[in-house]
Amino acid sequence: MVHLTQALTAALLATGVVAHPGGNTNKEILRRQAHLDHPNRRNVQECKRDLVASGWVREQHQRREARLHELRVAAGFAKEHELVRRDVGEVEESFGAEAACTLDPESTEGPYWVTGELVRQDILTGEKGAVVHLDVNIIDTSSCQPVTDAYVEMWGTNATGVYTGVQASGNGDGSATAISTNALRGVQPTGANGTATFITLIPGHYVGRTNHLHTIIHHGARLLPNNTIQGGTISHVGQFYVDQNMLRDVEKTAPYNTNKQAITTNAQDALFNMAKRGGDDPTMKVSLIGNTIADGLYATIDVGVNPSARQNPQPVNMWGPNGGVPVKGSPWAGYPESCLYCGFRPPMEKKDADAEE
Ligand SMILES: *[C@@H]1O[C@H](CO)[C@@H](O)[C@H](O)[C@H]1NC(C)=O
Ligand SMILES: *[C@@H]1O[C@H](CO)[C@@H](O)[C@H](O)[C@H]1NC(C)=O
Ligand SMILES: *[C@@H]1O[C@H](CO)[C@@H](O)[C@H](O)[C@H]1NC(C)=O
Repeated sequence: MVHLTQALTAALLATGVVAHPGGNTNKEILRRQAHLDHPNRRNVQECKRDLVASGWVREQHQRREARLHELRVAAGFAKEHELVRRDVGEVEESFGAEAACTLDPESTEGPYWVTGELVRQDILTGEKGAVVHLDVNIIDTSSCQPVTDAYVEMWGTNATGVYTGVQASGNGDGSATAISTNALRGVQPTGANGTATFITLIPGHYVGRTNHLHTIIHHGARLLPNNTIQGGTISHVGQFYVDQNMLRDVEKTAPYNTNKQAITTNAQDALFNMAKRGGDDPTMKVSLIGNTIADGLYATIDVGVNPSARQNPQPVNMWGPNGGVPVKGSPWAGYPESCLYCGFRPPMEKKDADAEE
């Protein structure tokens, strides 16, 4: 395993795969490698027996079925009494064949983390696109129990690949308007089942990156009176992806089809490929609520964390009452032109990206 992954690292470093904006990708490869090689690394699969025995897999599955049905009924695609349940034994059998996992960061926070976001479930704030009801299930891989008292932070670009709360020439069209909105960013507590629920969009793509959502898992944070969180520790920094066939369909719909930035597929994305290694799967399970993407989507992902792990991601900005404000001394400040964490080569040309495949 170690030798195989080292060989892959060498191969990635040797090819142009690292040359794209996602921050310091060389450093990221080494960090991911350290995670994969960590002697205490456990993934969700290794908790399978416990999670099945404790009834968690069954409960989660039934909750997912019920939730999707509830969304279908609400959208007029099913009647209350029409819920058809799948055999749970089969579900328990196939559970965790691959699952997102971490001990060290699964991936980088990237240059556009804005801290100080609001605790809220619906983070759309007027943005248009493929609406997704997302359940993020957090599992403690040291105890194989759901994590019931964490905060999950989530952010992604809008349908045309621009992050809110920041302004940078590398941020889509570099638009100055994005800094004054907190759309598509927010924080949710995990409940008794270890699940945090968001309403957001399938993110757009941007130069050098496939469509992805960012997440950070907070432990021991305090809820402030203004509905933001403060303090605590961070055990996990990750990115979630969407199946390529679903992405292809989403990208054909408006407003995704107005995005002028070059497309990078999952297979062409260095961070996606790194996250897939070691038996992990950072791809969300996405279902249509109705007949088309416009009818909405339901997505789930299981994330294994070690709550006592300590990560130190760095925000570029902090969300305040008047918009995004630069965090003094942030190593991402000045991205992509010059920043402490930059260390990347210019984005690949589209033809290079194709040649990688
Ligand atoms: C946990 O899941 C079970 C089974 O679906 C459900 O009955 C229960 O209400 C859930 N609890 C919470 C707090 O969501
Ligand atoms: C995404 O955000 C940018 C910056 O605010 C904006 O110019 C663009 O119109 C947004 N995309 C969509 C589909 O609304
Ligand atoms: C929430 O309160 C904290 C602590 O007073 C403050 O630093 C932060 O700017 C506030 N956030 C918002 C969005 O008002």
